[in-house]
Amino acid sequence: MKRSEINRYLREAVAFFESFRFPLPPWAGFSLQDWRAQRNCQEIFDCRLGWDLTSFGSDDFLKTGLTLFTLRNGAPGYVKPYAEKIMMVRDGQVTPRHFHWSKYEDIINRGGGNLVMELFHADPESSTLTGKDFSISVDGVTRLMRSGERLILQPGESVCLQPCHAHRFWGGWELLDRRGFQGQR
Ligand SMILES: [Fe+2]
Repeated sequence: MKRSEINRYLREAVAFFESFRFPLPPWAGFSLQDWRAQRNCQEIFDCRLGWDLTSFGSDDFLKTGLTLFTLRNGAPGYVKPYAEKIMMVRDGQVTPRHFHWSKYEDIINRGGGNLVMELFHADPESSTLTGKDFSISVDGVTRLMRSGERLILQPGESVCLQPCHAHRFWGGWELLDRRGFQGQR
């Protein structure tokens, strides 16, 4: 991807976050000269804070990709067993299926559209999908899901993902009922 494209996507992300009153730290827009002049900012580098723009190895960022800004993260020497990231998920832009070995992940839809999540029950020990039904917490409300079923998070809704919850997601504008469920594709 050309640097000019990356810069455009980052500018669009800043504007998108600000449209939801989510301003970023001042250094989110630092130039190389700004970084050279900044002192006492080792934590930013040690904890890998800041921008990530990824196409997950694909050649089409708009189809398979994600824009993230990490605000908090842990690292050796920093006692911080949690992280906070703001993400921009574009309409139809897929984050491939994955799960996390140990971390719990709360995904909160702060606005802009629906977040479509395809959820699968996984066994992190063997890195396999089990196909089992499972339960999940959506804003504190337990829902029963079939493995591979879609959960739609509308703005304001959130889900708590555990290591056994493999997930794939994208931005979607499908018309939904308030239950937020759709059948397996
Ligand atoms: Fe994840």
